[in-house]
Amino acid sequence: MTMPDSLFPSTARDAIRGLRGSRIREVSNAGLHLPDVLPFWFGESDQVTPAFIRKAAADALESGATFYTHNLGIPRLRFALADYVGRLHGPTAMENVVVTSAGVNALMLAAQLVIGPGDRTVAVTPLWPNVVEIPKILGAEVETVSLEFGEAGWALDVERLLAALTPGTRALIVNSPNNPTGWVMPADAQRVVLEHCRLHGIWVIADEVYERLYFVDGAAAPSFLDIASRDERVICVYSFSKSWLMTGWRLGWMVLPAGLTEDLGKLIEYNTSCAPSFVQEAGIVAVSEGETFVRQLVLDLRHSRDHLVAALSTVPGAEVHAPLGAMYVFFKLDQAADSLAFCKRMVREARVGLAPGSAFGDDGEGYIRWCYACRPERLDEGVMRFRRALQG
Ligand SMILES: Cc1ncc(COP(=O)(O)O)c(C=O)c1O
Repeated sequence: MTMPDSLFPSTARDAIRGLRGSRIREVSNAGLHLPDVLPFWFGESDQVTPAFIRKAAADALESGATFYTHNLGIPRLRFALADYVGRLHGPTAMENVVVTSAGVNALMLAAQLVIGPGDRTVAVTPLWPNVVEIPKILGAEVETVSLEFGEAGWALDVERLLAALTPGTRALIVNSPNNPTGWVMPADAQRVVLEHCRLHGIWVIADEVYERLYFVDGAAAPSFLDIASRDERVICVYSFSKSWLMTGWRLGWMVLPAGLTEDLGKLIEYNTSCAPSFVQEAGIVAVSEGETFVRQLVLDLRHSRDHLVAALSTVPGAEVHAPLGAMYVFFKLDQAADSLAFCKRMVREARVGLAPGSAFGDDGEGYIRWCYACRPERLDEGVMRFRRALQG
């Protein structure tokens, strides 16, 4: 007997069908088959993971680290991370640290822990699309508060954010240093916002995966961990991807109230069960022995940032500010009013791979994101092609 198709609709849930596809991927897919593309579209370095970390993973594999681990991560890694976080942000117990399968998994787990269907959340944008879409997967609503692009670069009107954080709001989601703008939330703004969230019982989910890629002073950008106690409604998300060039390894962690870890362990069991064991072993070495590497990386990135900002500042129609953190220049460009179409043209005609501003929300339209985590010579070649295509 044949059944009518309508009885078996082969579609995903409405919430999933309503998600925005990644426009960064849309551009990169358009350029994948083309030869000689210079990729500045993704948030990763052109260098491989440092040798001492690769060796640690190879040694771990060789010695048989091929089994499941505890849901919350190998205790030695949790301990090493607690020590690392403690050095940057003050005393932190390993009970407050949980290992995840990279930052994006930590964001999903944080959202699954505290955000449910119909919840109202607030996010500061422009923003890496995943952070905005994850609450929607869970059926939550996301209201956005835009950063503003002014004389001094990107800035947040704190009063506007406070006004959006109405009583009954479930969570604030804020990413600093910010992808794509490089904006860094000042410590005094964090203090005011945290106080307000405490008053109204609002969770703070702070995506601080770029905390080490900070070009002002100190070893890390201002963090909610600097001002929050470890048992209040603050969840901070971190990654090995950016500071130790480990994007393909999929390792991250979160810092959260110890009282949540039992429930988080259940969520991890039903998501990934644990991060890969030999990758966790390499993570222990990265976080314990990687300080010299991270400090040099920041110096190199700052150099590349300055190089790209100087080069783009001379491009007609471009308005550029040096970002304080992360690994991107997010600049306004007259010719990029439709940034998606513009980036597709750039990859086709100039073989330069860029990310369209509209990928980061409507308030990113008219901007372009350029990842500068590469050698200055590659940036020079990219800017030369870009400039030529704009003229032609
Ligand atoms: C703001 C932000 N958060 C989280 C992530 C997640 O990184 P990963 O999943 O590689 O740890 C990224 C990656 O680009 C990011 O830009």
